[in-house]
Amino acid sequence: MFSSGSAAGESLAQKGTTGNISSIFNVKTQRVFHPRFSELKKAMWKDPMAQSWAQVLDALKGKAEQIGSLGSKAIPKVHYDELQKGLTDERIAEIKEAGVVIVRGAVPREEALGWKKSIKDYIAENRDRVVGHPVLQPTFYELYNAKAQILARTHPKLVNTQKALLSLWHASDPNSEISLVQPISYFDRLRIREPGPFGWSLGPHIDGGGIERWEDPGYRACYARVFEGADSWRQLDSYDVTPRLTANQDLYDSPNQCTIFRAWQGWTSLSTTKTNEGTLRVVPFLKLSTAYVMLRPFFKPKPGRETSLEANDWELNLEHGEFPGTSPGRAQKLSPESHPHLQFDKTVVSIDFVEPGDQVYWHCDLIHAVEAKHTGTGDSSVLYIPAVPLTLKK
Ligand SMILES: [Fe+2]
Repeated sequence: MFSSGSAAGESLAQKGTTGNISSIFNVKTQRVFHPRFSELKKAMWKDPMAQSWAQVLDALKGKAEQIGSLGSKAIPKVHYDELQKGLTDERIAEIKEAGVVIVRGAVPREEALGWKKSIKDYIAENRDRVVGHPVLQPTFYELYNAKAQILARTHPKLVNTQKALLSLWHASDPNSEISLVQPISYFDRLRIREPGPFGWSLGPHIDGGGIERWEDPGYRACYARVFEGADSWRQLDSYDVTPRLTANQDLYDSPNQCTIFRAWQGWTSLSTTKTNEGTLRVVPFLKLSTAYVMLRPFFKPKPGRETSLEANDWELNLEHGEFPGTSPGRAQKLSPESHPHLQFDKTVVSIDFVEPGDQVYWHCDLIHAVEAKHTGTGDSSVLYIPAVPLTLKK
């Protein structure tokens, strides 16, 4: 599951290094991009993409206002029973547009709290061997196979939840080598975050590679509609698994890079956690944010217009190989400086409330972050458990 492919360009990370959760994000300085990245942009460019850019920027203005007023209400919530009964078309559309969903009622509270106790006991009994990040304030534990993690991953209702969410995807090519009715276990780590100041924060980002989304032809195919230009970005289907099967998410042998196809990233809560208690934050509009992120490297602000959100103040940028927020071998990072039109002050919203046993899933292209603050009184804890369909891809 971890990096094993060959690098298409310079390898920035030592092959085989284990890393920790921060490895994929650490970029001390923006790297100077090789001239081939400028050539890549020139090869991909089509003039109608300028129309797409203007349309997307226009749509983002309204979306930022909408999410700004909705706040956390923009994140769909469903009960497990509703999911099992079958979601209405309206609910499916709501979840697919947001790209994120909270599922309540699958795992009993006491069972989830039991998992946490067993993990805490395990950590206490193996204090000298268990590794956590950051070292001085262990929060993200390098534990992948504790008994409670196995129990959670194989919990029948958790597996059923994943089946229901994988059914929101489809294969445009019926011969695609994938089973959307057979989730597999992905061995991810866990978080137990105590209240108080935190020495490390995880700002807005997208997992599953960075520059690979443009550089790898297979990955690029997932966003083909965006690169056709004009109105085509509106036809982007983020839930078609077929192009995902040829996407290489790790061209640079990065430490800590997941290389399998996680249709939905996710976690199961082990605590009662509210906003401002170190929880997940998301940008809950998948198609529009994806179209913007994929078009962003082709444009730059005109001199002196760096803070303008108007399409007229931005111009074509094919001569420079920069892909904002991206550095080969690292995940896609986003900030108000690199992606101003997303208006993060309005569009990044927190999960407002979860109880032990609640699950949260977010689409593999969704922009997300972790709250810098934890002002609560109890731990903010999750088991990272994504919804991963069975594929032949390693
Ligand atoms: Fe992430």
